[in-house]
Amino acid sequence: MTRFEQEKWQARYASLPSGPLPPKPAARWLHRWEGVIPRRRVVDLAVGLGGNAFHLAARGASVLGIDVSERAARALRRTALDRGLKLELIVADLDVFPLPPNRFDAVLCFFYLNRRLFPQIRDSLKPGGVLLMEAFVTDPQRAEKDQPGYRLAERELLAAFDDWEILDYAEGIHRGTGPSQAATARICTRKP
Ligand SMILES: C[S@@+](CC[C@H](N)C(=O)[O-])C[C@H]1O[C@@H](n2cnc3c(N)ncnc32)[C@H](O)[C@@H]1O
Repeated sequence: MTRFEQEKWQARYASLPSGPLPPKPAARWLHRWEGVIPRRRVVDLAVGLGGNAFHLAARGASVLGIDVSERAARALRRTALDRGLKLELIVADLDVFPLPPNRFDAVLCFFYLNRRLFPQIRDSLKPGGVLLMEAFVTDPQRAEKDQPGYRLAERELLAAFDDWEILDYAEGIHRGTGPSQAATARICTRKP
């Protein structure tokens, strides 16, 4: 990742509370498909402020969160302690951090698009493991404002996993956890 991106995330997390984080809702796509996730070893790539990770940890999964932000990780540690939840954390740049092969029963990747990770996600899931992912997708009304490659192309996410069992795929304008809407692609797919 570039220094600019690293500073962007450090700045964005500069005003986090010094105590535990307030509750953050899990993604709608996770709520919809959590029933198919084996509640065992889950990794949340670019875990952020942990809405999804805590949601699954509270439901018995053993969750590892990876994020480049040390500030976010510290806030997550305080929050886990406060809520009595176990959340393992690694502070690492996913541009270079190698995911271990054949390790996870589920991979979550929400609003962090790193195409380098696609083959690693494939390898790091165990057979029968599930990937839940959501990322911004091309939106003709916004495309010019974005950095190249920041958004998925149409059906790109589907094509990246089309040899797996696609349990669901949706592309279009979707609501986030709040009232706002955005063009996203969402996939729920199982490794054979
Ligand atoms: C938009 S937030 C998404 C957080 C979370 N997945 C969610 O949906 O709420 C993106 C996250 O990616 C992290 N991130 C950005 N670049 C990264 C990199 N190269 N390696 C690891 N984490 C990164 C940021 O620190 C930030 O927490």
